[in-house]
Amino acid sequence: MALRINPSILTADFANLESELASIATADLVHVDVMDNHFVPNLTFGPRMVERLAEVSPIPLDVHLMIEDPDRWAAGYAEAGAFSVTFHAEAAADPVAIARRLRSLGCRAGIAVKPGTPVEPYLDALAEFDQVLVMTVEPGFGGQAFLPAVLPKLGLLSKAVAGSGLDVWLQVDGGINAETIRAAADAGADTFVAGSSVFDGRSDPAERIAELRAAVAGHRH
Ligand code: DX5
Ligand code: ZN
Repeated sequence: MALRINPSILTADFANLESELASIATADLVHVDVMDNHFVPNLTFGPRMVERLAEVSPIPLDVHLMIEDPDRWAAGYAEAGAFSVTFHAEAAADPVAIARRLRSLGCRAGIAVKPGTPVEPYLDALAEFDQVLVMTVEPGFGGQAFLPAVLPKLGLLSKAVAGSGLDVWLQVDGGINAETIRAAADAGADTFVAGSSVFDGRSDPAERIAELRAAVAGHRH
């Protein structure tokens, strides 16, 4: 099974994002955290920024919306050039309608759950989604510690995905580094977001990506 490493630019240098993106060209996708100061107590990028990032990035954009009212706003990020748009279940009035709209725009549709949100309500609707994001920290900030207590949700999801024959990516986001990535892979994740462990402010992001890949190399679920 293909394992994907998606660095988050949340802890990258915002004044030099084009060169920061070039430094992670060996990754699978670039994870772009959109925050609105309402769903989470932090503020980052909007659609215009996402549009420019998509234009200059060597790899496709995996947009993570931590915003209120994704029913209204999610499609704009697909139109801005995102390869994938993931919105939060907790904020969505009609998750299936959002996913269908994203797919109709040629974008992958993802649904995210915070650490305290169960996944059971979404297991029957897996065919509507291309990705499920299980948050392994409370959304809002980079650099927090990985929460292993959420891992059983990945077990439920990977069983449901395997049983359905669907190709739904299972993503984890928060506290992923060369130590924690293995536990997430063992639990059933195949797509790994890593922010502060890739953009650590001192080392080469490409080396950190290679280290993460090596930590799960040869992994079998
Ligand atoms: C947190 C964001 C993450 C963040 C992860 O709310 O969704 O994508 O960048 O950062 P680390 O890997 O440092 O936990
Ligand atoms: Zn994220």
